[in-house]
Amino acid sequence: MALNPYFEPAPNGDTAFTISPPRIKFGRGALRELGYDAKALGMSRVALFTDAQVATLAPMAIAKAALSEAGIDAVIYDEVEVEPTDRSFKAATAFALDGGFDGYISVGGGSVMDTCKAANLYATHPVDDFLAYVNAPIGGALAAPGPIKPHIACPTTFGTASECTAMSIFDLLEMEVKTGIANPVLKPDLGIIDPDTLATLPSEIVAANAFDVFSHAIESYTALPYTKREPVSDPTKRPVSQGANPMSDLNCLEAIRLIGVNLVDAVKAPTPDHFEALAFSGMLAGIGFGNAGCHMPHAMSYAVAGLVRDYEPKGWQSNHPMVPHGISVIVNAPAVFRRTGPACPERHLAAAEAMGADISGAAPENAGDILAERVADLMRETDMPNGNSGVGYSEDDLDALTERTHAQQRLVKLAPMAVDKAMIKEMFRDSLRYW
Ligand SMILES: [Fe+2]
Repeated sequence: MALNPYFEPAPNGDTAFTISPPRIKFGRGALRELGYDAKALGMSRVALFTDAQVATLAPMAIAKAALSEAGIDAVIYDEVEVEPTDRSFKAATAFALDGGFDGYISVGGGSVMDTCKAANLYATHPVDDFLAYVNAPIGGALAAPGPIKPHIACPTTFGTASECTAMSIFDLLEMEVKTGIANPVLKPDLGIIDPDTLATLPSEIVAANAFDVFSHAIESYTALPYTKREPVSDPTKRPVSQGANPMSDLNCLEAIRLIGVNLVDAVKAPTPDHFEALAFSGMLAGIGFGNAGCHMPHAMSYAVAGLVRDYEPKGWQSNHPMVPHGISVIVNAPAVFRRTGPACPERHLAAAEAMGADISGAAPENAGDILAERVADLMRETDMPNGNSGVGYSEDDLDALTERTHAQQRLVKLAPMAVDKAMIKEMFRDSLRYW
């Protein structure tokens, strides 16, 4: 019998998957060991990346003290933009080029870790054209000519899992598009996940991050399996996002279960145990989607975030309209599940059960709806916006949202069935309101 019948080889499908697990240290108080870890990686003078807000918080104080105790010279760069752009990546690269650093440390959320990854790449292997390393078709998807400097990523949120992945996401200003760099060298040499760093997160950010984790996990779990993805001609160049595989399945289903058990209490009455569970689920899902990949909710999120008009979320200290990442993802998710359900109903049902739904007697044809309803119930219970109308969109925006989403082919192609523009538009229409 096959290892897992779901991964039965398909004609013209790939026949192997690779597992590149990140190196992670996980535990309460782990950030205090940063100096030892930096030394072990041969660092003596580091670029310490953060943002203006995190710069004033306890995790940065802990990181600075740990580096200083280890005798490591740290130069702080706190000009990371939340939702970074090519402009902010270039500014960070200029800082990195000037500093003569032998290592990089990032303390913050996804924006900080992603900016640090990019600055390390561009400063270690400079290119004339910024787009050279950027994902195709926007950029040249150039492979790095060699390793980059060691990087220790220390997340202070738990959604992005940037510490686990070889990706760096940013807004390309001239094309008004969110894109990224997916390059194996970008994976940090070490991620230090210290659940204590989450203690001061506002409840809105906890909810948004938890839904981001859930969506990483469910998208990877329902992604087109690697056995149905077209193989690459050069087996050393398998894409970072390979599709669902037996390893990512294990991580992702457990991540979904942990979110299902902890989400509501973590938002309404959090304890250190909740933060430990959330941080661990974020890591599991991060490893899962780092090897499998996301599809429609994330593809749609880039349009939802990019076309924002006047939505200003509670809980985030931003002085401009924005749809935070976890929110821009989850507002699409229930509408997507209703469409993707028929492609792999047993997976949608397993996820619904892991999220706490009663699936006894459920028919496979209702799998997508059952998962959609469970997620919408949890969104409502944790004060998330009511679909895309809740972040300011209406019927008038469907075409613009659809066009931008369709451009995210790297993600759209990982959906468990073919998705064209008409279907994307229907997904957005269904996503406007859930209750
Ligand atoms: Fe995400």
